[in-house]
Amino acid sequence: MVKHFVLAIYLLCFTLETLVHAQDQSGFISIDCGVVDEESYKDESTSIEYSSDGNATDSGINRSISSEYMVKSLERRFWNVRSFPEGTRNCYTLYLPRMNSNVRLIRARFMYGNYDGKDSLPKFDLYLGPNFWDSVEFQNASTVTTKEIVHVATSDYIQTCLVNTNEGTPFISTLEIRVLNDANYVSDSIQLLQRFDVALQEGQIVRYPDDIYDRIWSPYNPEGWKKISTSLAVPNGGLFSYGVPSIVLKTAATPENASDNLEFSYQLSNNGAVKFYVYMYFAEIENLAADVTREFDVYVNGRLLQNNVSLPFLTRVTLISETPPQTMLQIWINRTNKATMAPILNGIEVYEGKTLDLPETHQDDGTYYITNVGGNKLSGSIPSKLSERTRNGSLIILSLGGNPDLCFSSSCHKRNRIVIPLLVTALAALVLSAALSFICRRRLQVVMNRHKVSFLNNTVSVDSKKQEFSYSEVQSITNNFERVVGKGGFGTVYHGCIGETQVAVKMLSASTQGYQQFQTEANILTRVHHKCLTPLIGYCNEGNRTALIYEYMTNGDLSDKLSGESQTFLDWKQRLQIALDTAIGLEYLHNGCKPPIVHRDVKTRNILLNENLRAKISDFGLSRMFSDEGDTHVSTVIAGTPGYLDPEYYITNRLNEKSDVFSFGVVLLEIMTGRRAISKSSEKSHIIKWVSSIVEGDGEIDGVMDGRLEGDYDSEGAKKVIDLAMVCVAPSSVNRPTMSEVAMELKLCFPIGELRSASTGSIEVPSINEISGFSSLER
Ligand SMILES: *[C@@H]1O[C@H](CO)[C@@H](O)[C@H](O)[C@H]1NC(C)=O
Ligand SMILES: *[C@@H]1O[C@H](CO)[C@@H](O)[C@H](O)[C@H]1NC(C)=O
Ligand SMILES: *[C@@H]1O[C@H](CO)[C@@H](O)[C@H](O)[C@H]1NC(C)=O
Ligand SMILES: *[C@@H]1O[C@H](CO)[C@@H](O)[C@H](O)[C@H]1NC(C)=O
Ligand SMILES: *[C@@H]1O[C@H](CO)[C@@H](O)[C@H](O)[C@H]1NC(C)=O
Ligand SMILES: *[C@@H]1O[C@H](CO)[C@@H](O)[C@H](O)[C@H]1NC(C)=O
Ligand SMILES: *[C@@H]1O[C@H](CO)[C@@H](O)[C@H](O)[C@H]1NC(C)=O
Repeated sequence: MVKHFVLAIYLLCFTLETLVHAQDQSGFISIDCGVVDEESYKDESTSIEYSSDGNATDSGINRSISSEYMVKSLERRFWNVRSFPEGTRNCYTLYLPRMNSNVRLIRARFMYGNYDGKDSLPKFDLYLGPNFWDSVEFQNASTVTTKEIVHVATSDYIQTCLVNTNEGTPFISTLEIRVLNDANYVSDSIQLLQRFDVALQEGQIVRYPDDIYDRIWSPYNPEGWKKISTSLAVPNGGLFSYGVPSIVLKTAATPENASDNLEFSYQLSNNGAVKFYVYMYFAEIENLAADVTREFDVYVNGRLLQNNVSLPFLTRVTLISETPPQTMLQIWINRTNKATMAPILNGIEVYEGKTLDLPETHQDDGTYYITNVGGNKLSGSIPSKLSERTRNGSLIILSLGGNPDLCFSSSCHKRNRIVIPLLVTALAALVLSAALSFICRRRLQVVMNRHKVSFLNNTVSVDSKKQEFSYSEVQSITNNFERVVGKGGFGTVYHGCIGETQVAVKMLSASTQGYQQFQTEANILTRVHHKCLTPLIGYCNEGNRTALIYEYMTNGDLSDKLSGESQTFLDWKQRLQIALDTAIGLEYLHNGCKPPIVHRDVKTRNILLNENLRAKISDFGLSRMFSDEGDTHVSTVIAGTPGYLDPEYYITNRLNEKSDVFSFGVVLLEIMTGRRAISKSSEKSHIIKWVSSIVEGDGEIDGVMDGRLEGDYDSEGAKKVIDLAMVCVAPSSVNRPTMSEVAMELKLCFPIGELRSASTGSIEVPSINEISGFSSLER
């Protein structure tokens, strides 16, 4: 039971493949209902492609709205409607393109425009498949009624139905579906009630392409609120900023009377909603002098949601409140006693929770969510005692991003650990007890072979080659940024050439922090050489243009190679070799570098393969570079990728090398099984949960091995590797082996015969010296 809970933690369930991927319209379905058949067009202001609805529904008739409503300012997609005079229930069936995330935003919009000449506003019901979604009503013929729901799709299509309730003929103007990669929205279906960009100019809206998920933000400028704005960008705070675009956060309001507080209230209609959710977005957009303080507490319906919120310049935070059904939502954002500046609000969304009887409803005995600092959302079942506490009233989901200085305690301007409110203490206790009872059934009998290597200070070799490049040189290296070869959390990667050498140039996204140390760090990293690390050839640091230049790896990353779509298939030996190379690279970072480098973001995307399919770790040192902290063992920013993130690090905020060991364990499982760390399609969505559910049943590993190997592997070795991986992902770091132990153990996973044939070059097993990181202070 307890163990079950621990595994539930791995339900850090959301595949947040880099947000940048979502910048194209992939996964968008945009239908202009009732437009002439087979017509499709590109909307000018958003560049969204709208198509006709001919093949999405087989009923209804296309009509145009009455000419008096067809004014220039009206978006074209409202000019036509499809109406359904026949039948009670008429549906659109839309097939969903396969995407990383199953979370969809579904938006249906309606404008009557007297299309039928009857001058009579209809009223009808909207359904999502078999489930009632909402009633559609109109104030007048020119109002646009919008229904929007965020919903986890459980099949490969979505059916949207209009149901005639004998109050007029149902019709529809547009139907849009978007993919939310950043699936931090609650796991229930939630319907949007309001989405405001505070202090956005009246008459304007923000949507795609500014908002990559095409959420539509409208202005909110109540009386007594003073508009403020900045011309600077508010950086996207990593994974948990809900993809809220900078443009929304750049405008905000404070009270006109600086000694006042901000109140936001909203009338809720009690139409059977099970819960209400408020997402509040804050960002500091004034560069405050050292002697002034903006600090505030946030109350929702009289309950404290969060106190002492104080943000450094251009950082953001999201506060989320979940409240039981009620008729009124009242939010106060009140200055604290310490504050010399009025409180601020940049954006706000209000949702209602919907119970849709979907097949995949959980056996829900209490679900909690905590999003921590730049980290993850935890979601899972917790014992009922705790769940009572969480269910009663507001529950905090906190998301802070890209803001190492942020804290909620009074000593804000010193760097200290963030106090995670509520629940966390209880949670930590639970995890701890769970960890203690975790039975490592196959605790490794690792023969420690720790070499007493005294690490020399000169782990860095002096490289006489040029390392610093100017921006114009970077331009010419990349042929003016001609070819994009990848995108990642830290920025876009371009292909380039320095002489004969192919290079990958990573342009780091503009960020306000870390530049001071960039040069020093980049300098060190250019000197860290190891055959299992992607060589950093040089860097550029000119103004705010920052780039890292790596050797180019022809075979891309391991994630692609393991995916079903890959052309190349990795056989058993190649997989073992890749695992070993990676282990050795990490071991070198931990033990061969001084001070040790904790990678923090070990994942298959960061393991690159050269022309011989040998693995090299990339992006090492990057997170350290951006955290501007000397001490790598304590961190205020939780960095990492969901699915790979060490739960202990997550909860305690203490980082050490064992966090990399955990992530490596996940990588190892992926290498063996060919599955992704988090798979959306399966109930046991996290790879650890999935593997343990199978392996613990009968102890057989055949069921977990990648089917594409077709049984062509050494089963004894494979068993050892799976065992090793499971020890690496032990919930408590003290139970995890060190990287040296892992590398040693992996070496033993090679079949005896293969070890011998090492000399013939089929598999390369490094010498013990190499494993200890000693002889690798090479080149
Ligand atoms: C309805 O669609 C048909 C066929 O695409 C087209 O010929 C007709 O003009 C459309 N009517 C309206 C009112 O748009
Ligand atoms: C309708 O079918 C055409 C051709 O098969 C396709 O290109 C188009 O995307 C489809 N439209 C919708 C809304 O499914
Ligand atoms: C229709 O309703 C909207 C919103 O309530 C209002 O702003 C607008 O003036 C109304 N238009 C007419 C023609 O009554
Ligand atoms: C600002 O608010 C304070 C307290 O609410 C009040 O005493 C003061 O008169 C107000 N100032 C102005 C200019 O309205
Ligand atoms: C917040 O401020 C408002 C107005 O300034 C005040 O009425 C309210 O009591 C305050 N709330 C709390 C919990 O202090
Ligand atoms: C939940 O809150 C209500 C009202 O605030 C209170 O009466 C009730 O005792 C609380 N229940 C628990 C289990 O704390
Ligand atoms: C919030 O700040 C006040 C005053 O600065 C302080 O007394 C209080 O302890 C702080 N609360 C927390 C939870 O840090």
